[in-house]
Amino acid sequence: MQIIPIEPDQALVELLNRSALPTSDINQPGSIYFYGCHQRGKLIGCVGIQICETVAMLRSLATQEEVRKFGLGQALVKHAELNASLMGIEALYLLTTTAAEFFERLGYRHLCRQQAPAVIRETTQFSELCPSTSSFMRKLFIKGRPRDLT
Ligand SMILES: CC(C)(COP(=O)(O)OP(=O)(O)OC[C@H]1O[C@@H](n2cnc3c(N)ncnc32)[C@H](O)[C@@H]1OP(=O)(O)O)[C@@H](O)C(=O)NCCC(=O)NCCS
Repeated sequence: MQIIPIEPDQALVELLNRSALPTSDINQPGSIYFYGCHQRGKLIGCVGIQICETVAMLRSLATQEEVRKFGLGQALVKHAELNASLMGIEALYLLTTTAAEFFERLGYRHLCRQQAPAVIRETTQFSELCPSTSSFMRKLFIKGRPRDLT
């Protein structure tokens, strides 16, 4: 299954809506890279990385319900991590209300929101869109590679 760069179009909005994820900020110019996977022309999975100077937010991860638990979610995270590391990102941060355990298994560790760097706090996801009860998590990258046990 091929994962490719995608635009923040209607198909992406529909998938994020169905997955109860925010869409109001997906068209911010420049800083968000989206990737997706299609089956018979339909978008079945997506993920985004929002670059904030030397770190980034992993966001907008969703798979269509009928293809869940086949490994696509994990493949999308790995793809986002690879692209983040090629861009020289030092750490990936994320907020989630539903999938903390999923991300723990992929090497993300819980942080207090107070530990967020200023550039992450300034994102709309952090400051407005994700509830304050969301889990806040991070994976550090060392020498351009994800460090899985930090
Ligand atoms: C989270 C999500 C992307 C996972 O997609 P997926 O395609 O099912 O993921 P995978 O098939 O790669 O799952 C890998 C493993 O994680 C488990 N897993 C999947 N979703 C999980 C969740 N929400 N919590 C805990 N474990 C989860 C799977 O059961 C699977 O376990 P296994 O390897 O023992 O079978 C999907 O459930 C989704 O779109 N949820 C709604 C949106 C969301 O919550 N996004 C994350 C916040 S940005």
